[in-house]
Amino acid sequence: MSDKITLSIIKADVGGWVGHGSVHRDLLATADERLAKAKKDGLLIDYYRGRVGDDTSLIMTHEKGVDDEGIHKFAWDTFEAMTEVAKKLKQYGAGQDLLSSAFSGNVRGMGPGCAEMVFKERPSEPVICFLSDKTEPGAWNLPLFKMFADPFTTAGLVIDPSMHDGFDFEVHDLMEHKKIIFHNPEEMYSMLAFIGAPGRFVIKYVYRRDDGEVAASTSTQRLNLIAGKYVGKDDPVMMIRCQSGMPSVGEAIDPFAHAYMVAGWMRGSHHGPIMPVAWDQDTPNRFDGPPRVVALGFQIANGILGDPRDMFDDLSFDNARKEALMAADYFRKQGPFEPHRLGLEDMEYTTMPKLMEKLKSKWEAEEKVEVKV
Ligand code: 13P
Ligand code: 13P
Ligand code: MG
Ligand code: MG
Repeated sequence: MSDKITLSIIKADVGGWVGHGSVHRDLLATADERLAKAKKDGLLIDYYRGRVGDDTSLIMTHEKGVDDEGIHKFAWDTFEAMTEVAKKLKQYGAGQDLLSSAFSGNVRGMGPGCAEMVFKERPSEPVICFLSDKTEPGAWNLPLFKMFADPFTTAGLVIDPSMHDGFDFEVHDLMEHKKIIFHNPEEMYSMLAFIGAPGRFVIKYVYRRDDGEVAASTSTQRLNLIAGKYVGKDDPVMMIRCQSGMPSVGEAIDPFAHAYMVAGWMRGSHHGPIMPVAWDQDTPNRFDGPPRVVALGFQIANGILGDPRDMFDDLSFDNARKEALMAADYFRKQGPFEPHRLGLEDMEYTTMPKLMEKLKSKWEAEEKVEVKV
């Protein structure tokens, strides 16, 4: 075995059961069979198949590095096989995230989301994988900032010498397809000016400055203009390495004790609170939400993921859930009005241009009013 392993999460929504709420067990069984075979054939060291709402995550360890064609093709073929089952069962939006008609090298920009990192396994390697539904790639900006730059969240930034130099954040501009590194803490205010706009600027990686070690990776997607619509804004996943110079497990999950506001609820067009839930509560039903996040804690050993722990299955997140439910009631009372509904700028990437075109002839010029001075 090489001294480095790759952890990859490749995820997609290939059909919802019922509507956009969950994944039918026959689709999950297809993923499980294929994952088991890939491990037996030696492509993967290990795997775990996760799910949140209508999104299935293939969580995989292997030795092939990021963007590996074999790994990405395996994931793509798996989602295609699941889509076949979804079509037979007439699942909702069968093949939703397979935007391209054929695989071409890696899944980036093709619909599925993908977060990967390569690292040398430490003597103990706790990793948390966060999976979300009914939100957008930038939804991780706030918790990542708290985990890696906010000393009120992460005590280690103050008291662990190997974290004291801070962390570098790689931020991507999804529209312009550019990236930048912000050194924290000294460039924190500049960084916040960008990551505070999570619909466009998204944290892709976080690195420890002490030694350049990768600490976090997200499934940030570049947005592609397909058929006049921006696509790729979909339910993201994220992986965080914890302990020993990284945020502790508790520091990594603490940001979710607040049900902060994200975009992506109902038809991808509404703001709402993100609710941390246990795996048996991962189905967004009310108004197709509220948005949800589950957390799977792995203690990786020689590339073996082992059994994950359900990190939000804990009563200390009950208040966050209550807060989310209260915020959901508050937002829902506002119906089609902003800011529950997304702002015009975001709606422009969806249905607004069509509606504007349709109503073009109905709009009349306003009478000019002479203002006398
Ligand atoms: P299963 O219990 O179906 O394996 O799902 C795990 C999970 O990740 C749920 O979100
Ligand atoms: P997904 O992105 O999870 O498929 O949700 C789509 C939607 O419109 C839910 O209302
Ligand atoms: Mg869906
Ligand atoms: Mg989804």
